[in-house]
Amino acid sequence: MKGTFPIDKLERIQTPFYYYNAELLRQTLRAINDEAGKHEGFCVHYAIKANANPKVLRIIREAGLGADCVSGGEIEACMQAGFPSSKIVFAGVGKSDWEINLGLDNDIFCFNVESIPELEVINELAKAKGKVARVAFRLNPNVGAHTHANITTGLAENKFGIDMRDMLKVIDEAAHMENVKVVGLHFHIGSQILDMSDFEALCNRVNDLQLELERHRIRLEHINVGGGLGIDYQHPNRVSIPDFKAYFDTYAKKLKLRAGQTLHFELGRAVVAQCGTLFTRTLYIKEGAVKKFCIVDAGFTDLIRPALYQAYHKIENISSEEPKETYDVVGPICESTDVFAKQIDLNRCHRGDLIAIRSAGAYGEIMASQYNCRRLPQGYMSDEL
Ligand code: LLP
Repeated sequence: MKGTFPIDKLERIQTPFYYYNAELLRQTLRAINDEAGKHEGFCVHYAIKANANPKVLRIIREAGLGADCVSGGEIEACMQAGFPSSKIVFAGVGKSDWEINLGLDNDIFCFNVESIPELEVINELAKAKGKVARVAFRLNPNVGAHTHANITTGLAENKFGIDMRDMLKVIDEAAHMENVKVVGLHFHIGSQILDMSDFEALCNRVNDLQLELERHRIRLEHINVGGGLGIDYQHPNRVSIPDFKAYFDTYAKKLKLRAGQTLHFELGRAVVAQCGTLFTRTLYIKEGAVKKFCIVDAGFTDLIRPALYQAYHKIENISSEEPKETYDVVGPICESTDVFAKQIDLNRCHRGDLIAIRSAGAYGEIMASQYNCRRLPQGYMSDEL
């Protein structure tokens, strides 16, 4: 089964470009709000890093999600899209002074702090402004996730977060600083996670840490469990909306919130991946010595996931219904990693065919680069065509 697209309209656009299905994005957001809304105190933030196209951000903001930012640029992008600063969380191991000041000036909901030296700087900068910064400590829960090694974050060996054994120590240090207030704990174990037992392991860890806090009579306003819910890259047509019910129900069942506590999520991929497609055109069919190459006009500068993570994206020739043939689909960039897929079956390809690279709404357009002096791909929303 292939995806359905407004081919006549797409034919007129210069390839390569990203196409976003606004209706699918809205349906996905409704599913998130419906499922999260069943549980008291659940607050969902969108991880801007997945896709910061202004048209995408506007639709997500309209659905009422908060924002999870990892740079000053992301704070600016989400403020421009109208996200209220009271729903912005700001994470990252290396926040610059100007970025912290931007967060302070906008009175964001919370800084997710990853080290004591960072906390000291936030305290100092907040003091200079006569403000008190709300902070959550990002703890490293030492919980693995069954996903690609380049996108796990919650193991002790990763650069992220503070060793969970130091939790009480850092909370105590913060208590001695006048311009920061500890309001929460933050975690994130990795991305493209489909096995709910990984999230359960995080819940168990959080429960243990909350018991320890309770023994010291510490009660925090919120817990933030990050993002990480994966999507079905193999079946973008059949499973176009991730299983948000299973995801939120897992947290509702397994994580023991204290009275009045809120539980925050930072979902990126699960929100935007399936609504986005990278469209490219076949330039040449080249008969190699041992295989056939379908050379397209998109490269890893447009979508780097296959080259960087050996990621699978379903590819469809939407211009042809001819019998299938086997191709390596490759881009024009002067690097041998510029390959979208090897030995896949596509309806017979001809020069000029439109090729759809699916499930590319997350970490696609936003990770594009200009290597080889290539132009950045444009992104189009279905309801503006
Ligand atoms: N929160 C934190 C602290 C994160 O580091 C991330 C992603 C998220 C939330 C959102 O995770 P998601 O729900 O999207 O899994 N470029 C890679 C993914 C990198 C993820 C980085 N952190 C890829 O294309 O697979």
